[in-house]
Amino acid sequence: MPRETFELQDKVVLLTGASEGIGAALARALQFRGARLALVARSEQKLKEIARQEDLVVAADLSLPADRARAVAETISRFGRVDVLINNAAVGVYDKTIAVPLEPVRKMFEINFFAPLELCQLAVPHMPPGSMIVNISSIGGKVILPWATLYSATKYALDALTEGLRVELYPRGIHVLGVYPGHVRTGFQQHILHGRAAEGISPLRNRLTISAEECARLILRAMERRGRTLVVPTLYWFAVWCARVFPGALETRLRHMLQAIDKSES
Ligand SMILES: NC(=O)c1ccc[n+]([C@@H]2O[C@H](COP(=O)([O-])OP(=O)(O)OC[C@H]3O[C@@H](n4cnc5c(N)ncnc54)[C@H](OP(=O)(O)O)[C@@H]3O)[C@@H](O)[C@H]2O)c1
Repeated sequence: MPRETFELQDKVVLLTGASEGIGAALARALQFRGARLALVARSEQKLKEIARQEDLVVAADLSLPADRARAVAETISRFGRVDVLINNAAVGVYDKTIAVPLEPVRKMFEINFFAPLELCQLAVPHMPPGSMIVNISSIGGKVILPWATLYSATKYALDALTEGLRVELYPRGIHVLGVYPGHVRTGFQQHILHGRAAEGISPLRNRLTISAEECARLILRAMERRGRTLVVPTLYWFAVWCARVFPGALETRLRHMLQAIDKSES
């Protein structure tokens, strides 16, 4: 039997990381679908440029528990419920695991893992049956990226949260979608908290890069179809499959990629 589609018109969507990149593209696509938006990020000015008059703007630093609580409280106060929670905001740390200072790593875990966890805890009591949680992870949440092992660790943790919550929240009628993008053209690499982006990882990755708008389009399509797992572009399923079936071969490939990065940086 075909699954019932998820209608976005008039849905109340709490979207984090809405000020730029994939989040901003998602906000615009959701506006086009007639959703009612609570837009969260630190940059109030950028959010105001994206918001329509009927949208709620919440300037909040999601590394802070008080700001997470305020984001949900203001959404409930304006709209009375949350139909969709999209945990999209995240940052990266790109450095050698053995040497990296722990302070930026802890902050990254606060933003990438504890914020989605706490937002779920705060929002779920206000989510009616038929609502949805969307966690934006990364291909690094399915396949370790050894040039950003600890970023991968935050996304593996988010993956566990996504898959566990899907089962836990089933009786409440809340669906959970996990999104695992490969490389998307945004400012993400310029916003990393510590270290620097690995250049020249592979020419194939550059060929597989997609725009934030394309990524948002595919996410909305997966939401409307009530998908469970979205890997974009689809070709990255090959890497996920290799990690499960031929982990040794994948490790060898990743070792070569890491060596190439180290060489290009020395
Ligand atoms: N770009 C890629 O290649 C790629 C690949 C795989 C997965 N992803 C995932 O896709 C999601 C979106 O990434 P993106 O590429 O769109 O990144 P981006 O362009 O850097 O945008 C990140 C968003 O998160 C917000 N943010 C960062 N720190 C925050 C904090 N402490 N509190 C509140 N908001 C915060 C930023 O807003 P403010 O600065 O205004 O706070 C911004 O709106 C992330 O989960 C990322 O891990 C991206």
